[in-house]
Amino acid sequence: MLAEQVALITGASRGIGRAIALALAREGAIVYINYKSNRAAAEEVKRQITERGGRADCLQADVSSAGEVDAMVQQILEREGRIDILVNNAGINRDNLIIRMKDEEWHQVIETNLNSAYYCLRAVARPMMKQRRGKVINISSVVGLHGNVGQINYAAAKAGIIGLTKSAAKELSSRGIMVNAIAPGYIVTDMTERLSSEIKEQVAAQIPLGRLGKPEDIANLAVFLAGSGSDYLTGQVIAVDGGMFM
Ligand SMILES: NC(=O)c1ccc[n+]([C@@H]2O[C@H](COP(=O)([O-])OP(=O)(O)OC[C@H]3O[C@@H](n4cnc5c(N)ncnc54)[C@H](OP(=O)(O)O)[C@@H]3O)[C@@H](O)[C@H]2O)c1
Repeated sequence: MLAEQVALITGASRGIGRAIALALAREGAIVYINYKSNRAAAEEVKRQITERGGRADCLQADVSSAGEVDAMVQQILEREGRIDILVNNAGINRDNLIIRMKDEEWHQVIETNLNSAYYCLRAVARPMMKQRRGKVINISSVVGLHGNVGQINYAAAKAGIIGLTKSAAKELSSRGIMVNAIAPGYIVTDMTERLSSEIKEQVAAQIPLGRLGKPEDIANLAVFLAGSGSDYLTGQVIAVDGGMFM
C-alpha cells in the first residue's frame, strides 16, 4: 500500500504514465499528473482517480525546461510538504535514419527524454534526502539496451537514462532513496499506434509471450518499485517486454 504517499508522474495524461498514475492512486498514493499540452486527457485521469475516492491533481509543465520542472516540484512541496515517488515517464520519439536526422529531432528527443529526467531527479533529490526516503522510477526502453534502426536519438536518450539511474542509485542509496529503471518493450499506446498492423504482427511474432504489451504491464512493476516490497532493490534496469530480449 502507498497510503498518503505523494507521487509525481511525468507525462501521465496518456499511455504508460496514465496507467501508472491510476495504479499508484489505486494503492492509495496522492497523485500529481504532469502533462505538456493535453489538458483534457490529464483532467480525465484526475476524474477517474477522484471518482474512486482517490486524491489527484494535474500539473502542466514542459519537463524539458528546468525552470518549469523546478516550479512544478515547488508547487507539490508547498501543498504536501513532501514528495515520496517520482516517475520519470514523459517521452517522445522523432525517428529518422542517421543521415536524414535533423539536429532539431536529435535535440528534442534528448531534451524531452533525458534532460527531463535529470531536471526532475535534481528537483526531488533534496526533499527526498531530508525525508531519508524516496523511490525514483525512470522509464527507459529496450531500445536503450539493444539499439534500433532509425532511433539513434531515442536509443541514446534511453541508454542515458540507464546511466543516470545507476549513478543516482549509488549516490542516493545511503539516504534511503532507491532509483530503478523499467525498460518496456512494445507497448500499445499513442506512441506505437502509428506502426502499421503488418509491423505490429511482425513484432508480436518475435515476442515469446505472443502479444504487444499493455500500459498496465508496466504499471504493475511501477507499483512494486514504488512500494516497500522493493526496498532492497536499487540501480536495476528491468525489461518488461514479453521476453522479446533475453
Ligand atoms: N509505448 C512503447 O512501446 C514504449 C516502449 C518503451 C518505452 N516507452 C517510454 O514510455 C514512456 C511513455 O510512453 P507512451 O508510449 O505512454 O507515450 P505517449 O502515449 O505518447 O504519451 C506521452 C506522454 O508524455 C507526455 N509528454 C510528452 N512530452 C512532454 C513534455 N515535454 N513535458 C511533459 N510531458 C510530456 C505527453 O503529454 P501530452 O498528453 O500533454 O502530450 C503524454 O502524457 C516514454 O518515455 C516512452 O519513451 C514507451
